[in-house]
Amino acid sequence: MEPRSQAFKLPDSFCCLWVERLEDGTIRRGLAYRPLLELPPGEVLIRTEHSSLNYKDALAAAGHPGVVTSFPHVPGIDAAGRVAQSQTADFSPGDAVVVTGWEMGSGRWGGWAEWVRVPREWVLLLPPNLNSLDAMTYGTAGLTAAMCVQALLQHGAIPERGDVVVTGASGGVGSLAVAILAKLGFHVTAVTGKPHAISLLRSLGASDFLSRDQAEDKTDKPLLSGRWAGAVDTVGGRILTTLLRSVKHGGCVAACGLAASNRLDMTVYPFILRGITLVGIDAAYARIKRKAEIWSLLADAWRVERLPDLRRIVPLESLEPLLGDILAGKVMGRTVVELAHRHASGSAPNA
Ligand SMILES: NC(=O)c1ccc[n+]([C@@H]2O[C@H](COP(=O)([O-])OP(=O)(O)OC[C@H]3O[C@@H](n4cnc5c(N)ncnc54)[C@H](OP(=O)(O)O)[C@@H]3O)[C@@H](O)[C@H]2O)c1
Repeated sequence: MEPRSQAFKLPDSFCCLWVERLEDGTIRRGLAYRPLLELPPGEVLIRTEHSSLNYKDALAAAGHPGVVTSFPHVPGIDAAGRVAQSQTADFSPGDAVVVTGWEMGSGRWGGWAEWVRVPREWVLLLPPNLNSLDAMTYGTAGLTAAMCVQALLQHGAIPERGDVVVTGASGGVGSLAVAILAKLGFHVTAVTGKPHAISLLRSLGASDFLSRDQAEDKTDKPLLSGRWAGAVDTVGGRILTTLLRSVKHGGCVAACGLAASNRLDMTVYPFILRGITLVGIDAAYARIKRKAEIWSLLADAWRVERLPDLRRIVPLESLEPLLGDILAGKVMGRTVVELAHRHASGSAPNA
């Protein structure tokens, strides 16, 4: 089908972060200009204004085989911008939209590019009070954090039932989970490996702090004393099994990450003696209706007022040093990838 109409003058080529696998298997990456015609098929062409850096993006940029299915590749699991062309009546040129997850930036080219083209099923209109910068400050991390909080609430967590704990608290998912839980009135303990993150976490609403070491029980006791009403875990491994063994009767742990480990070695006792729940969170393939519901919560009732304190904004060309840092667990808060200025400055040459 021909595009219904068009909002912007389309360039012949676009800038992106290009990841190639060479014949000897080495991965090479750098900025590249590619013809617009090379974008994958899809009903909606979007002029990207902002994208973001997530842990998974750094894996994609390193050509990790568990993330990237074919080369050459363009990372970026998140994108927000304006519809340039639409082959569906669901969107009109100029609409402000957001895309997170699905196969974007893993199985297909993603948001670290001036333009993205995606299937219509992946696209959501941005809520009116959320601009592309704030949307990408949340990005997949915000969606994931909010889904974790929703899971705790759905399993009966209320502030009166006791404290909640968030691991990997200085990271993207962790810091946003801390902020949302505190906004909802919970007493939040933040687990962090970064003493210098404590003032930021305090400003987001965390009341207590544990080091990673303090949060990890080294024994093999099947149950520890009940301490938490709920937990959001972004790191996995021994910290996750410690949480599961120390959640109070009827409590819930929402597990979304593996920054420390993908292992889960423990007994079933916390499940059968305390009736606890372990909820797995997958933000990438969540139903589009659920994503829409979460975006409106993030824009309004659960809005994180301190979003500007949480983000650093970097242009595409300055991402490189952050890629190793995020894999090493050194990045705090969220990194927004700025692309809007590239359109404004007309930096894409018409090759
Ligand atoms: N399931 C989903 O849909 C989904 C969506 C998004 C992300 N994720 C996953 O969730 C995790 C967090 O993602 P993110 O984007 O928030 O990443 P991030 O910004 O890099 O945050 C991860 C945080 O984990 C902590 N950490 C790192 N290495 C650790 C280790 N060895 N032991 C214990 N803690 C460690 C660090 O926080 P502190 O220094 O404060 O401890 C780090 O900042 C990743 O595993 C990611 O793949 C899953």
